[in-house]
Amino acid sequence: MRRSPRQRDTVSTARARVAASILNADLGNLAHAVKRAEREGADRIHLDVMDGHFVPNLTFGATTIKALRKRTRIPFDAHLMISEPGRYIDEYLDAGCDSVTIHVEIKEPIEPTLRAIRAAGRAAGLCVKPKTPLSALEPYQHLIDIVMVMTVEPGFGGQAFMTDVAKAKLLAARQYLAHKLHGGEIHVDGGVNRDTAELVGGQGVDILVVGSALWLKGRDMAREIRLIRALADEGYQYTLNKGVPPIPRDRMVTFASLRRPQARTLREEVEAAGIPVLLFRASEDPAEMDDEIRHWDVLIPASAEAAAKARFSRRRTALKRASA
Ligand code: DX5
Ligand code: ZN
Repeated sequence: MRRSPRQRDTVSTARARVAASILNADLGNLAHAVKRAEREGADRIHLDVMDGHFVPNLTFGATTIKALRKRTRIPFDAHLMISEPGRYIDEYLDAGCDSVTIHVEIKEPIEPTLRAIRAAGRAAGLCVKPKTPLSALEPYQHLIDIVMVMTVEPGFGGQAFMTDVAKAKLLAARQYLAHKLHGGEIHVDGGVNRDTAELVGGQGVDILVVGSALWLKGRDMAREIRLIRALADEGYQYTLNKGVPPIPRDRMVTFASLRRPQARTLREEVEAAGIPVLLFRASEDPAEMDDEIRHWDVLIPASAEAAAKARFSRRRTALKRASA
């Protein structure tokens, strides 16, 4: 079998990200499954937790996730298809999930669970089943970092993608993340593969959950992941972005170049608004220059540049003046 190069050795320039669902992997060897998904280039692991009550199927829980956490370094997205996430949330946080998404259709209070997830410094998500309108998210929108849209009925992998649901909801879901200057994510879950990736990319999706398509016997998983990412970006570029290629997710740009005290002030304010910042010694200044005198580049993700400009342009000008 042809071996694909290790993703870790390459830089992904894509906008779209693939979260590998292990639901259709060999459940008897999940450690191997997560290690393989990482090696083959998945950006995340998507963990489908089912309780046999909220959905008519049963999978694994927090103990299994905790055990798997040690086996890979890529982020864990937990998708809790359970009736009482509030009762168990601490266990999922303790297991090391980077994000936890719960369903908006549950009967128990949702807000305390979302707050608990955020208080632990993780991303909080809400998921809607195909028949649930997006408006169900409204009461919680200020508390969410992720909107997950199901394009199959939850419970099982390998079902057919619901095109109508995708078209009706994916792009519209973005409005529920309007409060986030940076880092809000739309996830699409169910029936995503090389036949549907371009369509969901064209709806502006950030994270494509891919399950059964990755675990088919004889498939080159790495190639499948690359294809799905590329097709999603193709859809984004030509459907949503007027033919302009998307900004690669990992690209940083220099937002300002300031003396150290002003650079630190700007970093604090921009980070408080939810945009990550890096400070680097400005390359124009000689290497031996004193750190207090030299300029420092304030770097932000390129994808957040427009939002940062809208919010911090005047502040940047004032700090530049103070820096001169
Ligand atoms: C379904 C799960 C999905 C599922 C996706 O309830 O939430 O994550 O694993 O699998 P595919 O890609 O096969 O639809
Ligand atoms: Zn899922």
